[in-house]
Amino acid sequence: MKLELKPRLNMAAQMVRRGVRVADIGTDHAYLPTALILDGAVPCAIAADLRKGPLDNAEATVNTYGIADKVQLRRSNGLRNILPDEVDDIVIAGMGGILISEILEDAPWIKNEKYKLILQPQSHDEIVRRWLWKNGFEIIEEESCIDDKKPYICMSAVYTGKQKEHDPIEDMFGDFFYREDDASDAFCQKKLRRVQIRHSALNKIDPTNEEIPSLQYILDEVKKW
Ligand SMILES: C[S@@+](CC[C@H](N)C(=O)[O-])C[C@H]1O[C@@H](n2cnc3c(N)ncnc32)[C@H](O)[C@@H]1O
Repeated sequence: MKLELKPRLNMAAQMVRRGVRVADIGTDHAYLPTALILDGAVPCAIAADLRKGPLDNAEATVNTYGIADKVQLRRSNGLRNILPDEVDDIVIAGMGGILISEILEDAPWIKNEKYKLILQPQSHDEIVRRWLWKNGFEIIEEESCIDDKKPYICMSAVYTGKQKEHDPIEDMFGDFFYREDDASDAFCQKKLRRVQIRHSALNKIDPTNEEIPSLQYILDEVKKW
């Protein structure tokens, strides 16, 4: 049996290293760990979620595909109920970037080079990049795709202990600013519209806001592009 993932989740699944123990945080239907196990990509997984309803969905999926013995369903707020020595790769997909950063901040044990983080923020991905760079992680992969006519991105990161200098363009767009494929372009256009809206709103309601110079810098750089 095989479970075909939608492009957005497949992008995250492809970043999981082969043969590792994976934890999917905020798993809902457990589609990602189920697909990885059915493909033989990983031997086992933890499918974790904050709420019972999604864990019931996860249970239904693993039973349908006959892999209940390979997936531990776990009630967990972020990584709080995950032990450092029971995972290698950690996936957090389908949540906002603010929540993803809070989950990472809450688990200092992930600052170890043995883990690979696979993060798929649905919004505020710049906050995730900033958190990673400030906390000594290196972003090693960034991918984009179109799913249901909308652009999505996914990134993976490992801990190096070195903080990275970065500018507002890198923060806001990651690598996608320099790519020319349709998904990266659609993603950058979407983010640019958000920057324009925020820049003009802040100028009206809070003209001394410290975020304005970096938004202005982005708008100036985009004009040159
Ligand atoms: C939109 S679903 C995403 C499901 C799946 N990861 C995906 O990308 O399709 C978000 C899931 O995250 C769960 N969630 C929200 N906050 C969480 C937290 N602090 N810890 C664990 N799970 C959380 C929700 O219960 C929900 O099932």
